Amino acid sequence: MIVPAQEIVFDVEDRNLILAEIGRLLDEGRLSAGRNVDRFEQAFAQYVGVQHAVAVSSGTMALELIMLAMGVRGRTVIVPANTNFATFVAASRAGARVVLCDVDEVTLSPRVSDLTAVVTPETAVVIVVHMGGFISGEMPAIIDWCRERGIALIEDAAHAHGSVRGDRHAGTFGLAGAFSFFATKVLATGEGGMVVTNDASLAAEVRLYRNLGKASAWVSNHTRMGTNGRMSELAAVVGWQQLARLDEKVAARRQIADLYSEALVGVPGLLMLRPGHPYSGYKVVGQLAPDVDRSAFKASVADAGVQLAGEVYSEPLHHQPVLGEAYGHLTFPGAEASCARQICLPIYPTLDRERLDLVVRSVIERLAAVAGPA
Ligand SMILES: Cc1ncc(COP(=O)(O)O)c(C=O)c1O
Repeated sequence: MIVPAQEIVFDVEDRNLILAEIGRLLDEGRLSAGRNVDRFEQAFAQYVGVQHAVAVSSGTMALELIMLAMGVRGRTVIVPANTNFATFVAASRAGARVVLCDVDEVTLSPRVSDLTAVVTPETAVVIVVHMGGFISGEMPAIIDWCRERGIALIEDAAHAHGSVRGDRHAGTFGLAGAFSFFATKVLATGEGGMVVTNDASLAAEVRLYRNLGKASAWVSNHTRMGTNGRMSELAAVVGWQQLARLDEKVAARRQIADLYSEALVGVPGLLMLRPGHPYSGYKVVGQLAPDVDRSAFKASVADAGVQLAGEVYSEPLHHQPVLGEAYGHLTFPGAEASCARQICLPIYPTLDRERLDLVVRSVIERLAAVAGPA
């Protein structure tokens, strides 16, 4: 038996709905800026509980459009050092000066103290990233911290479809949130993303920037230095259909995450990280003890038939070759330790009990073998 790191399945119910809707779309022949994007936006806004949602071509574009709409050019944006390159590049391409901050190894998010360590009078924006779908318990404190300083809080919720803390969905804690619908995400359209906000003027600016700076899809009158960040109608069909089944799929993921946590709690050499709130189940993250050789452990588990998913991110941003010159001299102990020691277990709605048990067994046995006798 092999347990793959990822399994992306569109079941019969999914297929029938998607194919029927795509048939209708092809009959109509309007493949861009049509009713599918409109209804996906409306349904997504309702799902997360905001007034405005703007469908875009990727999660990276969602972040970049928020930054362009906010006018960050020449201003400073704080980004956690353990995030996807996309978070960095979105702010950078919008003309911001990006400052990295450290994160807590267990919540995978910045603490207020991490923000305080790097804030300057020039700081205009903080981007918090809900890694693996985890929303940090420090969010209320971060919201206050930003408010007191007049700094805008933006959420990168690329991993957090369906993550809820208190009574709020990921993406709704700050001025705006950005989701990704990349092929491996909890809600996937292949490529795609969504901006969510309660700020009507920001939403209007994002729409303008998404559409090459023009207000109408079909009239060429450009009032902003915008870009093409539009989502196609085909992607919107898939997104709208997937959204209708999101809660069901998230529930299956949460159940798997719970089973892993129960089975692996207290295993020597491994600390299972728990979000502490209902989450997307995008990643199940464990932290290996410092003396466990991650590569050897992963190879050993692979021999048992279990492919561990890639780490959330195995290298922090300041260790990326393209950022080395500007950021390579920096040190962020939390982000570095987290990236170096984390593992992600296979999680997808189709993971059945037999395969889950194999993962658990292999992790326990192989960890004991790699760590050696206590
Ligand atoms: C945290 C994070 N932010 C942003 C993105 C960018 O999303 P996309 O791939 O849809 O551009 C991703 C990844 O896909 C991500 O993991």
